[in-house]
Amino acid sequence: MIDLPEPSLANSDLPLPPKHLRLRVAGNDDADRFAKSGRMSVQDLDRALASIGRSFSEFADVLEWGCGCGRILRHLRPAQASEKLYGVDIDQEAVSWINENLPRVSASRIDGMPPLPYTVDSFDLIFNHSVMSHLNEVYQDAWLAELARVLRPGGIITLTVKGRHAFKHYVQTAGMIASARITDRAAEDTLRSNGIIYIDEDQWSRVFPNFYHTAFHDVGYVFDRWTRFFDLRSYIPRGALDHQDMVVLQKPTNQRVQQDLPELLPCRDKADLERVVSELQREKVIHVARLARMQEDLTFVQDKLREVHTSLSWRLTRPIRALRRLIAQGRNLISKMTPALGRHDPG
Ligand SMILES: C[S@@+](CC[C@H](N)C(=O)[O-])C[C@H]1O[C@@H](n2cnc3c(N)ncnc32)[C@H](O)[C@@H]1O
Repeated sequence: MIDLPEPSLANSDLPLPPKHLRLRVAGNDDADRFAKSGRMSVQDLDRALASIGRSFSEFADVLEWGCGCGRILRHLRPAQASEKLYGVDIDQEAVSWINENLPRVSASRIDGMPPLPYTVDSFDLIFNHSVMSHLNEVYQDAWLAELARVLRPGGIITLTVKGRHAFKHYVQTAGMIASARITDRAAEDTLRSNGIIYIDEDQWSRVFPNFYHTAFHDVGYVFDRWTRFFDLRSYIPRGALDHQDMVVLQKPTNQRVQQDLPELLPCRDKADLERVVSELQREKVIHVARLARMQEDLTFVQDKLREVHTSLSWRLTRPIRALRRLIAQGRNLISKMTPALGRHDPG
């Protein structure tokens, strides 16, 4: 049984964001549910931190990644009254609303891919509700690396995923999978064999950018993949709004990094090594981002190619292309044979 600290809830008479902003983050626009679910998420965060013996008030520099219109941030207060909490999101309208209405928060708009507008080791706590559950693996990896960059060594990060419970719920309610190309059975098989499934034909298609859909994770995947970026400290099934799973991670301390990479690079001292590691992490983020864009381009070209192949004119001109190929093959053959014939030609 976890001994819960004093909840981090701040009493506030802050205004509520408009309906359409609430809808975008919560899936419905009910004002009461918005307020209650925000408070529940703060309790989830408290419980997650308590599961590793920590509490929210210990953290001085706090960031919410994917903060939307501040459903959670509105209920939190920074450790020092003079300080601010930080939030980032791709949604400019939500970010502007926060900056105009939540005095304890400083929010910034970011792109769908890193980087964040912060320097290395800026935060000691990063938390989040339901962003990884909307991104594909390329985006997830890029963000894990970037969040590791801005988190201090030893810092804590909590992320939520749609785990087994959320997957079952979707299959049972047939909410999304029914509208997708993929069948429930195939989705189940993919989740079991790959540990992750990303469904890009869902209800978010016209609301968010094209990289934002629905991802489900198996515990094993999180244990294996995410520990390449962080140490896993705690995994709480249904630890987020009783629906998504809560993952508590910690950035390895410098000592551990130094042990892992003893002879990798000629570094003079610890600070030197830290700088090199940050640079490598940053470079990795850029390469992953490039790769994602190239994959998008490739998909675009493949779609176009498919269109061309199925088009009428392509089919009508098929015999001509076949004839051209035959002629080219014939020419090839002749040019190969000509020198040989030449050698035997007595004339
Ligand atoms: C389901 S909402 C959750 C919002 C907020 N965390 C909450 O619980 O109320 C997901 C949020 O992630 C944001 N988002 C989507 N892709 C993102 C990305 N690549 N980086 C940061 N935020 C992103 C969306 O704009 C949206 O506000």
